[in-house]
Amino acid sequence: MSNTHPIGLFDSGIGGTSIWKEIHSLLPNENTIYLADSKNAPYGLKSKEEIIELSFKNTEYLLNKNAKIIVVACNTATTNAIKELRKKYNVPFIGIEPAIKPAANQSKTQTIGILATKGTLNSDLFHEKTALYSNVKIVEQIGHGLVQLIENGDINSAEMQELLESYLKPMIDQNIDYLVLGCSHYPYLIPQIKKIIPENIKIIDSGEAVAKQTKKILEDLKINNTSKEKSWQKFYTNANPHVLEAILDHNLAVFEKDF
Ligand code: DGL
Repeated sequence: MSNTHPIGLFDSGIGGTSIWKEIHSLLPNENTIYLADSKNAPYGLKSKEEIIELSFKNTEYLLNKNAKIIVVACNTATTNAIKELRKKYNVPFIGIEPAIKPAANQSKTQTIGILATKGTLNSDLFHEKTALYSNVKIVEQIGHGLVQLIENGDINSAEMQELLESYLKPMIDQNIDYLVLGCSHYPYLIPQIKKIIPENIKIIDSGEAVAKQTKKILEDLKINNTSKEKSWQKFYTNANPHVLEAILDHNLAVFEKDF
């Protein structure tokens, strides 16, 4: 049986579109609804309680629009709220977390770097995961200010380049050979990051893995869309829609709504 209800995704803003792009490219047949809670960005500086409340609000919005599965396209919301979300709502959730495992397993220098928000790096879930890799040195760095600049459309600014240099140089000095991007906004900074790090340092993010996991869960639960009709994609933002439109780089439907 086919299920034409949409996949729902949410993020603190426009960054989770990096996850949406991976999901849409792997599952072009699926209808999707994406929520950019940019009015409340950044989540990374909020308390766990606030992040949980915002995650509940976003989930309910998506459930009211008949989402059949929810992708929490935000590391900060996943690491702080996924347990509470799964407890409260009877819908499958897919979360994203920094991709420590592939980096730790493949590192030759036994040293990996993780760039993420304060909320992610301070979360219990993140600590539980890093404890599994005590054989590897993990250099953690909070990406102070990066999400705000991306939300303002200032990806190519001199300020962005200066912030990135100040965060990445100490990691390079510690001999990392993998850089994990632990925030769904950061894949949009890959061109800038590549100007700073040497070629031997590999960049890893979670987008592809999340898309594969979403496909697997939809198939396992038999709720994938097998209809032959053309799929639809909708984007909702509670802030300036132009920044979201620009980052999507497609002719896609963006709606400005107060949620
Ligand atoms: N995209 C969010 C993440 O993956 C950014 C969090 C924030 O708004 O600070 O962590």
